[in-house]
Amino acid sequence: MQSVLEVLDKCAAYFSAKGVPNPKFDAQMLLARALKCKRLELFLQFERPMSDSELSLFRDFARRRAKREPLQHILGEVEFFGLRLKCDRRALIPRPETEEMLDNIIKLRLCNSSSPAKILDLGTGSGAMALALAKHFPDSSVLAVDASDQALELARENAAVASIRNIEIRKSDWFENIDESFDLIVANPPYLNEIEISEAEPEVREFDPISALLSPDNGMRDLRKILGNAPKHLNCGGFLVCECGLGQAEKLSVEFSNFYGKIDTAKDLSHVERYIFCQAK
Ligand SMILES: C[S@@+](CC[C@H](N)C(=O)[O-])C[C@H]1O[C@@H](n2cnc3c(N)ncnc32)[C@H](O)[C@@H]1O
Repeated sequence: MQSVLEVLDKCAAYFSAKGVPNPKFDAQMLLARALKCKRLELFLQFERPMSDSELSLFRDFARRRAKREPLQHILGEVEFFGLRLKCDRRALIPRPETEEMLDNIIKLRLCNSSSPAKILDLGTGSGAMALALAKHFPDSSVLAVDASDQALELARENAAVASIRNIEIRKSDWFENIDESFDLIVANPPYLNEIEISEAEPEVREFDPISALLSPDNGMRDLRKILGNAPKHLNCGGFLVCECGLGQAEKLSVEFSNFYGKIDTAKDLSHVERYIFCQAK
């Protein structure tokens, strides 16, 4: 019989050979799931022999990860801004850069104003940003839209699991089915071009929906639509905050300078100018 430690070591080496990033961590996460314990609890049972049924479940997880299926899809969930969200092929896996954008919004940019009464999340995907904002601002009302029926279905499931009620989830092609105005609009739209997608890791290229990644006009068409139309839907002094791809925030801040009272950009933790903050006139 193999011990927990032996299985972990073998699996980490197997993942390394398959090019899986963070092989040790992923092996630990998957083994913890197979043993129905927390990752750190593995360290207390390294010598414990694994049963045949535990091994067979873990092997299935490990085979999937070696084919570069994302860890979050195998686990079926992801942690995002203190929420545990269901996660599968129906929508983009929420990213740490997007959590950072929320940090910026909550801690830095909007700290002088009271809670935004009305919030819109454009392209909500799994519902990640909308749900995090709805939880953080319980007195606000949040509208989350997406053009994908599958994403909307997942977002509704996530709202139900998190028991978050100050949210409406609606189908809309960007602003098409939206008549209301908002104090805060957030968006993490598709912003990659075809070359960037072809160069992305298999986890992204093969498992995130293409409609969540690709935007024509060198990744800029959706951002331009959003920045061009948002002023009609922002209350006086309200903010539009978008996540952008490489080099896009700087370009957009010049192109749209006349549409807003003030435009600012901010870097992510990798020092990429990742976010654009547009304040309505
Ligand atoms: C990069 S994903 C972001 C998902 C989520 N906001 C997040 O940060 O994890 C972009 C989302 O925009 C949606 N989307 C793409 N085109 C759209 C459109 N024309 N109107 C509304 N949503 C759209 C996609 O379905 C996808 O869910």
